[in-house]
Amino acid sequence: MLSKKVEEALNNQVAVEAESSQFYLAMASWAENQGFNGTASFMYRHSDEERQHMLKLVKFINERGGKAVVPALKKPSANYKSVHQVFENLLNHEIDVTNQINEVVHICLQEKDYTTHNFMQWYVSEQIEEEALARNVMDRLKLVGKDNSGLYMFDRDILSMTADSAQETAGA
Ligand code: FEO
Repeated sequence: MLSKKVEEALNNQVAVEAESSQFYLAMASWAENQGFNGTASFMYRHSDEERQHMLKLVKFINERGGKAVVPALKKPSANYKSVHQVFENLLNHEIDVTNQINEVVHICLQEKDYTTHNFMQWYVSEQIEEEALARNVMDRLKLVGKDNSGLYMFDRDILSMTADSAQETAGA
């Protein structure tokens, strides 16, 4: 059985994951309209993954005797300056998500809820991968700079960049 505090923290995380999914969907749609089809596919895929993260939490909360709350949707911005800005947003957003996950883990320990603490470890590992991937993408974009043909190749290659390849590059 979940304590009220843990239930609240998990429901807050449901909202964070839902918001991430919306945010990445908005950036995917922007990229598609700009003709950056690789970046768009990457962001669509990422948006789907965030929805899975949300669903996993919803099911866990309900299985453990809590009540999952499906949050209202906030409207993300439809306008972005560049592909660089989109991926910078992704990295900064994932850093925020990591902080939120750490907060949930902290509350689990305070409440001595080791079952939820164990469940949350999946999210802890996932954040390591997601941050590594976002950093790796940013490193590549820095090399591209303002060069249009470089950006064209980046957009073509982005889909082959996965969390695993990012970790290999990072030496993890
Ligand atoms: Fe579910 Fe990208 O954090």
